[in-house]
Amino acid sequence: MKVIIVKNAAEGGKKAFEIFKKKLDEGATVFGLATGGTPETTYQELCDSDLDFSNCISINLDEYVGLPADNPQSYHYYMKKHLFEKKPFAHSYLPDGQNDDAKVECERYSRIIAENPVDLQLLGIGRNGHIGFNEPGSAFDGRTQKIRLTESTIAANARYFENENDVPKYAYSMGIGEIMQAKTVLLEAYGKDKADAIKKMVEGEPTEEVPASVLQTHDDAIVIVDEDAASLLR
Ligand code: F6R
Repeated sequence: MKVIIVKNAAEGGKKAFEIFKKKLDEGATVFGLATGGTPETTYQELCDSDLDFSNCISINLDEYVGLPADNPQSYHYYMKKHLFEKKPFAHSYLPDGQNDDAKVECERYSRIIAENPVDLQLLGIGRNGHIGFNEPGSAFDGRTQKIRLTESTIAANARYFENENDVPKYAYSMGIGEIMQAKTVLLEAYGKDKADAIKKMVEGEPTEEVPASVLQTHDDAIVIVDEDAASLLR
């Protein structure tokens, strides 16, 4: 695991951009994408650049169950707003939050991931160490699943909703086993509230109690953290 420490999220976005650019130059065509506050500077850098993804495929990590694509809190909407409007891909996949047949939806999404091996997977990390919406205790070899969000994740994501009760309780998420199949994994984390999770991810024993710690066993995992998120590292 290669850890890069930057000053702040703005500088982190520039570093992440360089990694996207290098991958594209090397012929990468499938990009795994994340949502949330963390990747916003990266997406801004991509939008401001002349990189062309129109021959590429994107596969997002997750989507809330129950939200239609045009709901401003949905990850479909987020991706359109932060990236796809400016940088369209040949095809962009996200789980369908409106499919209430979880078995069918998870199998459909796992098939998409299997048929389109990811070259570069972008990740954020939850305060509890989650990646995607794989909460503590998720299997390291897991596939796409319907996941019940923990109280800590609901509280963290409430900032995007009018009130905490509006945060969906379930999400469809790519599994850890599928995330680990990406050729390169790039995790970004900014801010003091990620410091504990970053310490456990980088320096703790790999354990399913800290989902991101699985990345210690990935052949090409890059971590970009700002000084606050790195503040508890030895
Ligand atoms: C989002 C995702 C989540 C977030 C994580 C951090 O697609 O999969 O794992 O990356 O919850 O969220 P932020 O970046 O908002 O702190």
